[in-house]
Amino acid sequence: MPAAPRRPPKQFPFAAELLGWYDRHRRVLPWRAKPGVAPDPYAVWLSEIMLQQTTVPAVKPYYEKFLTLWPTVGDLAGAPVEDVMRAWAGLGYYSRARNLHACAIAVGRDHGGRFPASEEGLRALPGIGPYTAAAIASIAFGLRAVVVDGNVERVVTRLFEIDEALPKAKPAIRAATDTMTPAARAGDFAQAMMDLGATLCTPKRPACALCPFNDVCGARKNGTQETYPRKAPKVERPLRLGAAYYARRADGKVLVRTRAPKGLLGGMTEFPGTDWSSRRDGEDAQPSAMLRATWTKRPGFVEHVFTHFTLRISVHVASVPASTKAPLDCRWVDEAALDDEALPSVMRKVAEHARAK
Ligand code: ADE
Repeated sequence: MPAAPRRPPKQFPFAAELLGWYDRHRRVLPWRAKPGVAPDPYAVWLSEIMLQQTTVPAVKPYYEKFLTLWPTVGDLAGAPVEDVMRAWAGLGYYSRARNLHACAIAVGRDHGGRFPASEEGLRALPGIGPYTAAAIASIAFGLRAVVVDGNVERVVTRLFEIDEALPKAKPAIRAATDTMTPAARAGDFAQAMMDLGATLCTPKRPACALCPFNDVCGARKNGTQETYPRKAPKVERPLRLGAAYYARRADGKVLVRTRAPKGLLGGMTEFPGTDWSSRRDGEDAQPSAMLRATWTKRPGFVEHVFTHFTLRISVHVASVPASTKAPLDCRWVDEAALDDEALPSVMRKVAEHARAK
């Protein structure tokens, strides 16, 4: 095979090599239809939404749970949104869950319960952006669509030595991926690129000897694989501080409240606390204004990394009599049943920290 030119050609002619590799080495994943079986668009959509910013091992149990609870898009549309949020708890980026439910309703209301079979139709639905529309169009409907996720970015920048830094390099990456994408088996091609990035063309120590593109890859030729994709220098995540109050009532209940529907962790359950924009660590906060009790600060902190900031919260605990009324906007729930609440990961950490011996 000739060496790949630095600029992508009009048509990169090696899709067949990749598809052959995929037929031998594809990962077995629960949302993938077996060879020769028509994919279920609902399953493909559900998996693609869950896989945004989330790893395959983290998604697997949630995917199985959702399909068991709601086997069809109609079942999901008919569920109360609170149940969907609760089932999503722990997976992060909670606006995805809210949009998931809104999308299921829209598919029923506007499309007779079937996902539209075009990128344009898919993009008009809640929570479906350009990447997800392309992924569903190709994987579920076999349409030729250019699918670029983080794995594909790595493969393509190496193959074509795209030196521009992300995110500016995105249009060039898309154009290069376009030259590679075949008309036939576009969904397999997209997933083959993802698998190649996940299993061989890894960020560190890529297994080039096993790669179907190894004799045409520009970065491999020059030994520069690990320098791609080039990235703009990282900006430090700011640190935000706050405090959370874990009140345990003598009858085994703990105090929680529901966050506002919009914004970070919208609609999820939390333990009451200070806001997280302040730089106070809660040492001097006034929990008694929330609930009259003797509060004890647990040693240490809970830290949680969000996309735009790192949160460090102190955790304060108190035991109160069974007769204690819930303050405004709060409610008592069984501590033993906290798992049934829509508790995001940061609040699970708070509960663990509060209960640690
Ligand atoms: N990441 C996002 N979509 C995926 C898919 N269909 N297969 C594997 N990894 C993925």
